[in-house]
Amino acid sequence: MSTAYFGRRYMLSASHRLHTDVLSNEENRATYGKCNNPHGHGHNYVIEVLVGGPVDPETGMVVNMATLDEVVQTTVLERFDHTNLNFDPLFVNQVPTTENLTRAVFGVLRTALPAGTLEYVRVEETENNFFQIQGE
Ligand code: NI
Repeated sequence: MSTAYFGRRYMLSASHRLHTDVLSNEENRATYGKCNNPHGHGHNYVIEVLVGGPVDPETGMVVNMATLDEVVQTTVLERFDHTNLNFDPLFVNQVPTTENLTRAVFGVLRTALPAGTLEYVRVEETENNFFQIQGE
């Protein structure tokens, strides 16, 4: 049966500071540049979620949009929106780069969505940067 894909975008505003205790202050500055500034900075991330699978013959849908919205709201937006990512337990031992944020979002959504439906999570950090994690 053919696979149908459904994508949806969500807005997430959060701040972060890129810094790791593994490196010296000088090395942190050299590695992360302005993103290492002590007071951090913010982004208006766009979280793009793509789900895929067969179209349910009864509902005519891949994944119900209301279900997807609910899952993203409770597992991602309520957790990360308008927060400082550095304070999330996930990022205590992990630098809150957008690569790692994308992995975190992919991980929580894969667990929360119907099995096998999450195709990818893409996080746009700026107009010109995006990061993507793909399911296997
Ligand atoms: Ni940044």
